[in-house]
Amino acid sequence: MSESNLSASIEQIDESRRVVPSADPTRRTLLLSALAGCACLATNEPVVAEDEQPGSNERPQKADLLVRAEGDKAGEVIKPDDLKLGGPPLRAWPKDPKTSVVRKGSRLNEVVIVKLDPNELDDDTRARAADGIVGYSVICTHAGCPITAWVKQEQGDKAVLKCMCHNSEYDPRQNAQVVFGPAPRRLAALPLAIADGAITVAATFVGKVGAQQGG
Ligand code: FES
Repeated sequence: MSESNLSASIEQIDESRRVVPSADPTRRTLLLSALAGCACLATNEPVVAEDEQPGSNERPQKADLLVRAEGDKAGEVIKPDDLKLGGPPLRAWPKDPKTSVVRKGSRLNEVVIVKLDPNELDDDTRARAADGIVGYSVICTHAGCPITAWVKQEQGDKAVLKCMCHNSEYDPRQNAQVVFGPAPRRLAALPLAIADGAITVAATFVGKVGAQQGG
């Protein structure tokens, strides 16, 4: 296309996009009234971003529900049968059952849960599990990346939680202790329970959440 043809085409497109005022004054009045109504609604009902709702920053609290953090069913309450024995895990946000606020105001509130054979769990882990379902902070203790993988461990045959940033691995059967990589300490554990057919939080995090070095 020549330069003149190209500019002609652009002009045609611009022309086709131009808004032509309605010649019908009645229709124009109705449109303006409708727009004014929308503006009125918008100013009367301030929208609070989900992440800024009161309570959304608080760490998981006892009796919170867990809702899916990702995928087609994001936001749905997680039930024990939603998890397959032996994995894969699900990532979840805690949700206040009274206010329905999902506590996604801080990434330190996100958890990863996985269903395991209770006989595989050590005593501490079993005490915090609900029917073999265990929960941990999703934040890797090395440099704070999220745990994103469930893979066969580097040195062994078991599936483990893995951070792909620098390959740290955590064994969820042993209180998420570090079994490979540079992470300095285990993931924080979230005690779980089952109530009214849903997975709930039984107590606040055990251990440090986040990527503080040492400890
Ligand atoms: S941030 Fe997870 S291994 Fe480095």
